[in-house]
Formats: sequence, structure tokens, C-alpha cells
Amino acid sequence: MIENRKLEHLKICAETDVETSHNYWEDITLKHETIPRADLEDINLRTEFLGVTLKAPIIVDAMTGGHPVAKEVNENIARACEALGIGMAVGSQRAAIENSEMEETYSIITKYEVPLRLGNLGAPQFAENYGAEEIERAMEMINAHALEIHFNYLQESIQPEGDTRVGTLREKLRELAPHYPLIGKETGAGISRNAGEFFKNAGFIAIDVSGVSGTSFAAVEYYRGGKHGKLFWNWGLPAPYSLLQLKDLGLPLIGSGGIRNGLHAARALALGANVVGLARPVLKYAMHSYEQTRKFLENVIEELKIALFLTGVSGIGETEKIQYIIRGELAQWLRQC
Ligand SMILES: Cc1cc2nc3c(=O)[nH]c(=O)nc-3n(C[C@H](O)[C@H](O)[C@H](O)COP(=O)(O)O)c2cc1C
Repeated sequence: MIENRKLEHLKICAETDVETSHNYWEDITLKHETIPRADLEDINLRTEFLGVTLKAPIIVDAMTGGHPVAKEVNENIARACEALGIGMAVGSQRAAIENSEMEETYSIITKYEVPLRLGNLGAPQFAENYGAEEIERAMEMINAHALEIHFNYLQESIQPEGDTRVGTLREKLRELAPHYPLIGKETGAGISRNAGEFFKNAGFIAIDVSGVSGTSFAAVEYYRGGKHGKLFWNWGLPAPYSLLQLKDLGLPLIGSGGIRNGLHAARALALGANVVGLARPVLKYAMHSYEQTRKFLENVIEELKIALFLTGVSGIGETEKIQYIIRGELAQWLRQC
């Protein structure tokens, strides 16, 4: 049952350490600017993304829906996103496509003025029988600005009941993408340059990198009995590496996977992300209350502001001017690939 699986994922992610062994955002150091360019309180985090204005360049990325507990989690996140003027993606809407009673666990977010609402469906379902009808239902359900299509083949190949078909997926997505605002998204293993070029050529409107550095879905499935989960725990492309590989494609980029604080967010923006996405770090707060969720995200925003202040930029439009050095394992990835 999808509902049971959703609850298991939430519990494992909230209570167990399912992080990859290395966070590649830690390999980046931003260069300090002795005399800042603007007052701290005047640092402007406001940004335009996919045609809407966000008060800060942050999205709470796709996590849940499809279970009564997920409804509360989504409501707490949506309320916090409304309060802070930031974006939100719901988790895979497959549960509601297959059982309409589950719709309210997602549509609850429309009670709030979330400035950017992203729907979510899985690529493996498009390899099977999903098409235009499912896209339209998912988008209508939350009055979405765009729909993330997640590519989670690492998870599917570890998951005991995994869906590993690819079939004519590329052809199907090439037909659909010109007609809908689609975002190509990973779930923690990173978007390759080849996939990025495919998204660009097919007509996707943005990419959500979700690379290695934070949540490992091989780890999550290991705790659900996936026997190869341990071996593939750290599989994938480092999030900042993936971001750099996609930077010159000309598509808006969500820098995500392992963003754990505002300094990580500043590093992602410096490397070329237009906004950043956080998922698992929000979950433990969203399972408790709206207040805790808002407080955590407010803190990330304050940290981001301080980082921009200390690097001598006055706002989001200038983040690509930030100088940085890259060390350690990330430097090795960049040297060799
Ligand atoms: C509990 C949980 C459920 C998730 N479910 C989905 C999902 O349904 N669809 C999706 O695209 N990504 C899903 N993700 C992946 C996240 O959106 C994100 O890409 C990934 O966790 C990396 O970000 P993080 O390191 O900040 O968690 C989920 C993540 C978590 C923690």
C-alpha cells in the first residue's frame, strides 16, 4: 500500500540517520569581504523565480502527502512558507492519483498563500501509463505553478517493491514537456549533464538538482529491507558538482541535496543556483508544529543574510559575484570529471 510506505518514509527520515557520509557543501569556502557593501538589515533576499516573487530564495522541497500524518506535515510547511514568503513542493501525488480520498492531504496547502506551489509525480510512472491527464490532475489538486517530475531510479532499484522501468520515458516526456511547466528533479543522487541537456531540449522549465550531500534514499530503503541499500548508500553525483555541471544550460536551477543551513544556501547561490531547496531538515519540525517549522526556516534565512553581508554583496542579484574556493573531495570531482 502506498499509504503505508509514505508513513514508513516519514518515520525513517525523521528518526534515523539517513544522511550520506560526506556533505560536499562543506568543501566550499566563501571569501570574506572586510567592508560589507550594505547594512545587514538591508540585504535583499527577494527574488523572482518561475514568474513569482519569493521573499527569500528558498523552497521546502518535495516530501509528503498520501497519509493523514502527511496532511498535517504539509499544512505546517505551507503555513510557514506563507508566513515567510517562500516556495513549497508537495511529495509525490501518486497516492492521490490512485485514490482520490487522499487528495486533501496535498490540497490542504491551498488554504495558505504559498507564493510558489510545485506539484510532484515520478518519472517511473510516466514510463508506465501516466500522461497529460495525470499531470493536469496533479497540478489542479494544489493549483500548482509547475510540476516536478522526480527521477528516483536509485531508490527504485533498492526498494523491495521498486519500479525500475524506463521504456519509452524519454519520448513520452518529449511529447508532454512543451505543453506543461515541468521541472526535472532528482531525489538525492543528482542530475547528470546528459539529463540536464535532455530536459533543456525537451522543453522543461527548470531543474531541481537534489544531489548527494544530504538525504540518501538508498539508506532509507536499506532501513525498509532493501538489501543493496548499504552498498549504494553514497551513490550519486555530489550536489554542488551537479549544479556546476548544469550551470551553463540556461535553465533556472534549484540547488538542493544536503542544504542544512543558510551558509550552505549561500554557497549554492554562489555556485549558480537561482533558489535552494531543503527537504529532510524541515521534516522533524514539520512533524511537530507550524511554529517550529517557521522558526527553523527563519533561522536559515537569517544565516543566509549574514553570509551575503560578509561576502560583500547587497542581495540575491549579486550572488554570482561571490568568490569561493573549493577543496577536498569536491575539488577532486571537479579535477577529474
Ligand atoms: C521524507 C522524504 C520524502 C521525500 N519524498 C519525495 C517525493 O515524494 N518526491 C520527490 O521528488 N522527492 C522526495 N524527497 C526528496 C527531496 O525532495 C530531496 O530531493 C532530497 O531529500 C534531498 O534533499 P535533502 O538532503 O535536503 O533532504 C523526499 C525526501 C524526504 C526526506
